[in-house]
Amino acid sequence: MDTVYKISKAEQLNTDTFLFTINSEKVSKKARAGQIVHVKCGDEDGVLLRRPISICSVDRENGTFDIVFQIRGKGTKILSKYKAGDDIDIMGPLGQGFSLYPKHKKIIVVGGGIGIFPLLQLLKDHPAENKKAILGFRDKSCVILEKEFKQASDKLIITTDDGSYGEKGFVTDILKKELDKEPADMVFFCGPLIMMKLGVGIVKEYDIPCQVSMEQRMGCGIGACLVCVCKTKKGDDWDYTQVCKKGPVFGGDDIIFD
Ligand SMILES: Cc1cc2nc3c(=O)[nH]c(=O)nc-3n(C[C@H](O)[C@H](O)[C@H](O)COP(=O)(O)OP(=O)(O)OC[C@H]3O[C@@H](n4cnc5c(N)ncnc54)[C@H](O)[C@@H]3O)c2cc1C
Ligand code: FES
Repeated sequence: MDTVYKISKAEQLNTDTFLFTINSEKVSKKARAGQIVHVKCGDEDGVLLRRPISICSVDRENGTFDIVFQIRGKGTKILSKYKAGDDIDIMGPLGQGFSLYPKHKKIIVVGGGIGIFPLLQLLKDHPAENKKAILGFRDKSCVILEKEFKQASDKLIITTDDGSYGEKGFVTDILKKELDKEPADMVFFCGPLIMMKLGVGIVKEYDIPCQVSMEQRMGCGIGACLVCVCKTKKGDDWDYTQVCKKGPVFGGDDIIFD
């Protein structure tokens, strides 16, 4: 299912973060919020394995979709050199995305760092009447996609670790404050493991269901290599589950975070 597509726009959002708009009627039509594409970065040693990147948003009318990625290592560094007009080798859409239930009228998405990206299309697609977004960044220079998240939500709260923009502190503290003011029907998390672990604990106190998107390292992306496993509950026991096949999105209660 891998295919070569054309990059129609390549934009640098800050020092190390890039947005590509990619032409693909197939991916834009099929993709669901929370799904990923597996991207080939190059043919050199060390980058032969594809890198998983979330589908950030889709334009189903014009047959394009956006990915946003941060330079972390060799693969994403190579990717950052791609320009508009270049071809990009993409496998996807892959994985199980977020489950969006029309009966949920009030939702909250909570994202941190590179975990904010899959939450944008979720907000766009969810039919809820009241959508809040709580997004955490390291500092002001890291804040991106603010306009897009503002447009897609009813209330956007940005936090920074150092207070240089928005509210100072952790997204989980803000989540607690918001839930004290008004309950939600579902909370969606994507970001660092510790943030999701804390978040799942918080919504449990309020008896609210949640979904988490796990950003595990991946190898094959199609369930053949076991690189991506995480621990999930299985009755009174636990098991290893492949994030690429059964996830990346899971019920918050299904994951063993330790
Ligand atoms: C389901 C999923 C969705 C993702 N979506 C996005 C996205 O939308 N945008 C984005 O920028 N990144 C995303 N990532 C992370 C991205 O895949 C990694 O940053 C990338 O594979 C690193 O490749 P590299 O060759 O640049 O770095 P490598 O040389 O492979 O690694 C460099 C550093 O990055 C860390 N790293 C590698 N893989 C991950 C990972 N999965 N999560 C966190 N840290 C990692 C390594 O521990 C190492 O410290 C996602 C990952 C998963 C599993
Ligand atoms: S990445 Fe190979 S099994 Fe999931």
